Amino acid sequence: MDFVLETKNINKYFDQPVKFHVLKDISLGIRKGEFASIMGKSGSGKSTLLYILSTMDTDYTGELFLNNELITGQKHGKLSQIRNKNIGFVFQFHYLLSEFSVLENVMLPAKKLGEKSLAEIEHDAMEKLRMLDILKLAHQRASRISGGEKQRVAIARALINNPAILMGDEPTGNLDSHNSENVFSIFKRLKEEEDLSLLIVTHDEDFAKRTDRIIQMEDGRILD
Ligand SMILES: Nc1ncnc2c1ncn2[C@@H]1O[C@H](COP(=O)(O)OP(=O)(O)OP(=O)(O)O)[C@@H](O)[C@H]1O
Ligand SMILES: [Mg+2]
Repeated sequence: MDFVLETKNINKYFDQPVKFHVLKDISLGIRKGEFASIMGKSGSGKSTLLYILSTMDTDYTGELFLNNELITGQKHGKLSQIRNKNIGFVFQFHYLLSEFSVLENVMLPAKKLGEKSLAEIEHDAMEKLRMLDILKLAHQRASRISGGEKQRVAIARALINNPAILMGDEPTGNLDSHNSENVFSIFKRLKEEEDLSLLIVTHDEDFAKRTDRIIQMEDGRILD
């Protein structure tokens, strides 16, 4: 099977305050164009798993593959390059740089990747803003737009390097129902029109039910 993202038998322990088996034998695969959600009680290990899948946490056993390439064991510098290029990430809080314009915020990950000229990056960033229907905000300071708009800017920023997969840790957790619905529609459109793969942690059952698949976590395991 061809997976964008795949894990084999991932286990993780926390040592503090006591030794704790937080992820137990996690094996999963996300296909290209699949919109999957992760649900599970608070403390079941969703965020811990997402940190590993997004290559930010390397302290685990088992294997992680991105586009069939083994990621586990790669060096720090190579990892951040792989992450920058292949993984878009949206959090519950947007983490935009408030003093910067919307456009500058969206351009940032592409500047960091350093594969395109500034003119190209600006062009691509405007294209993402247009796609998310916030083009008119391009030159606003990030501190001066609404919460729902900030989350759309954060999605545009996550997409600027055309990642293989977009991950989110409760990206609608801080939004009212109208703005949550808006974000859901954006994700759905990205799946349908761009064949993007998405893996979204959510506590919102209505949101999860409308994704292609719900991955249910309980006590560090995936239930089948
Ligand atoms: N740095 C850490 N050190 C020790 N234990 C941790 C650490 N981070 C998380 N934990 C514990 O690991 C478990 C899983 O935490 P995690 O944040 O992954 O849960 P979650 O499913 O994302 O919960 P929520 O829905 O509340 O966000 C919890 O019991 C948590 O207390
Ligand atoms: Mg969490």
